[in-house]
Amino acid sequence: MCGIVGYVGAKSAVDVLIGGLKRLEYRGYDSSGLVVAADKALHFVKDTGKVRQLETRVHAAWPQAFRQRVGMGIAHTRWATHGAPTRENAHPHSDQTGRLALVHNGIIENYAALRQQLAAKGHTFVSQTDSEVLIHLIGELYKGNLFEAVCAALKHVEGTYGIAAVSVDHPDQIVAARKGSPLVIGMGENETIIASDVSALISHTRQVIYLDDDDVALLTPAGADIRNIHNVPVSREVAQVDWDVGVAEKGGFEHFMLKEIFEQPDALSNTLRGRLDEQMGTAMLAGLALSPRELAAIRRVVIVACGTSLHAGMVGKYYFEELADLPTEVEQAAEYRYRNPIIHPTDMVVAISQSGETADTLAAIREAKQKGALVVGICNVVGSTIARETGRGVYLHAGPEIGVASTKAFTCQLAVLLMMALKVGRARRLSRQDGLEICAQIKRIPDLVKAVLDRNAAIIKVAERYATAKDFFYIGRGCMYPVALEGALKLKEISYIHAEGYHAAELKHGPIALLDEHAPVMALLNNIAGKEKMISNVQECRARQAPVIGVLSEGDRDTATHVNDALHVPLAPHLSAPIPTAVALQLFAYHVARLRDCPVDQPRNLAKSVTVE
Ligand code: G6P
Repeated sequence: MCGIVGYVGAKSAVDVLIGGLKRLEYRGYDSSGLVVAADKALHFVKDTGKVRQLETRVHAAWPQAFRQRVGMGIAHTRWATHGAPTRENAHPHSDQTGRLALVHNGIIENYAALRQQLAAKGHTFVSQTDSEVLIHLIGELYKGNLFEAVCAALKHVEGTYGIAAVSVDHPDQIVAARKGSPLVIGMGENETIIASDVSALISHTRQVIYLDDDDVALLTPAGADIRNIHNVPVSREVAQVDWDVGVAEKGGFEHFMLKEIFEQPDALSNTLRGRLDEQMGTAMLAGLALSPRELAAIRRVVIVACGTSLHAGMVGKYYFEELADLPTEVEQAAEYRYRNPIIHPTDMVVAISQSGETADTLAAIREAKQKGALVVGICNVVGSTIARETGRGVYLHAGPEIGVASTKAFTCQLAVLLMMALKVGRARRLSRQDGLEICAQIKRIPDLVKAVLDRNAAIIKVAERYATAKDFFYIGRGCMYPVALEGALKLKEISYIHAEGYHAAELKHGPIALLDEHAPVMALLNNIAGKEKMISNVQECRARQAPVIGVLSEGDRDTATHVNDALHVPLAPHLSAPIPTAVALQLFAYHVARLRDCPVDQPRNLAKSVTVE
């Protein structure tokens, strides 16, 4: 997920673009850049880091008189998906002639093949991005009409995109196109703006057109001509935006956390995109870069992580043990680094970190590398320290997570762990048939999550009944045990209610002493192995007057009779069930915190990235 803004009109394009990028920084912030057309040339400025740095560079590079008279340009703030966040990889990218430029959000899935074909025709590339390949393709097909060249190029593209392209030959035109990656056009007076969301343009106009998939738009100061890629005009309504900027950044949601919870079907689709091999029943994880022989030589998996990522690792243990037949240990990273752990060269140490910067996780992988283990990362932030130091691993592609309480990163981590275990398993004992079955289960995950989000209204009702609680217990068994820990963590992080997660069997060993009518219990009662024992545990709670909320599989009427309230999740096999269940618990925690007027996105005392011990 990155931010795009483009401007053509009477104002200073530079000012509009920089202002727009600042509003879009929440969508990506590892590098940024812009290009403007003036004096029969394209002028680029790009930099790594925040938009503020770009602004300083722009002011140093271009005198004020130049900045004021330039009326067209496109800009981008990046969240790296292909290639590290470097200056070369920052957008805009230009074609082989330097006369066309492009900014792009999304992923061009067939970029490697396209790059090869273009290289055979003499194209050379300066970045590792899929986006540069696309503008080279447009350049290859360009005969003087940018709109036609963009349409022709998009016919060869597989994947998702939101793009804006410009040509030095047409300093009063921008061509924008969308498939799977949002774009909105702002219709001003003698000016037209394109952006990946309205927050970048509502200080200029509130009249907007949302592009649909497969739309291509020719933008001039006079407005927008919208067609499909076969050059047939399409009509799109002009809408009036009445949000303020703060709400617009959050896509209309009250908090980033809620936005990120609702983004999960898309985030998970991005995580899974192009990674399932439905012929061989395995996962294609290029970053893992290990041969089947190397995978078969692994004797033990050790997962190191902190916080929510640690909980993901605890679910991962079930995946590796079941699918890959590998003994798996999960370690709090600080504990691991200071314990002088036993590490063998046949260990695969998996570091999980959304930010890729957590100090203890980083130190843990340094220790593991020092002792000769194979180290693999699962990170969201491309080019982060852990991603670089592990050297091999799998990115989540979940997009930036702004809310301090981790949500979409957690579910995407589970999806990656499941694919990783599948891949390692297929190099060991797992049959093709079983692999195919797991692939089919993984493919359904985004829909399972959608089904939970559709039940948001029902979850709000339950949250309303429990929002004044002072203590909460979450219990689960098997792979739902770590989900219980994560559910309790979400609640305490953002609502400040004292919440503890326990293995349901541990209740009797202490916590049950605390149960009474004021201590509700969230019981993960999904229809999977262990449910009968869970029901017994629920009865023990109810016998102490503790109100029980059950997370139940859709349609499980029998189990519903054992609980006071229910959150329903779709019926799912035990390997994928933790994901929709976690989403239901995220929503529950969110609504409780909101009802208590808590600052959901920035809970007290917490930081998004813990870079100190
Ligand atoms: C902090 C965050 C948590 C996160 C943990 C680990 O505590 O508030 O949400 O789970 O760090 O962060 P990482 O970036 O390594 O996943």
